[in-house]
Amino acid sequence: MSDFYNPEVFISEEEIAMRVAALAHEITRDFPNSELVVICVLKGAFVFCSDLIKQIQLPLQLEFISLSSYHDSTQSSGHVKIDLDINVSIEGKHVLIVEDIVDTGLTINFLMNLLKSRNPKTLKLASLLYKPAKQIHDVKIDYLAFEVEDKFVIGYGLDYAGRYRELPYIGILNAGH
Ligand code: IMP
Ligand code: MG
Repeated sequence: MSDFYNPEVFISEEEIAMRVAALAHEITRDFPNSELVVICVLKGAFVFCSDLIKQIQLPLQLEFISLSSYHDSTQSSGHVKIDLDINVSIEGKHVLIVEDIVDTGLTINFLMNLLKSRNPKTLKLASLLYKPAKQIHDVKIDYLAFEVEDKFVIGYGLDYAGRYRELPYIGILNAGH
């Protein structure tokens, strides 16, 4: 296989596994005797969310939501659209959103406001990655695995034009090419 399909490792599987375990531990500790509704933001967060929920020691319900703000490009199009909504009520529930990356904050800001309007008991955010360089919207990430520099990252669920989601590690697009 060519290098195109094997980008250089930026964050290794081992580093990811350690942070995921630490976040799952924090989440478990923060919600004693509670049930969670975990909302996985498709498609990017599905790998992270899958690993995370396996280690959260709480009863939980898993839901999926799909939003689009990027259209096969490395630039945000500046608007967010719901492609798939959850179909359960979150009123009075402890809700944890699981996202792949907070870049400008546009997507998550939109989603947090939308879910807040549905009156959850608590609304928290777990994100695999955070790119502070591009932030426009103020976003509080309750559980963050890694802060990253302003590079386009791929793998472990994150894509570039639909590719690379299956990489078990996080790489940087075109690094070294
Ligand atoms: P934001 O709305 O600008 O915060 O962008 C969030 C969304 O853009 C994420 O959920 C990703 O789908 C996508 N995105 C932003 N930066 C990257 C990146 O470096 N790699 C892959 N996807 C990214
Ligand atoms: Mg996303």
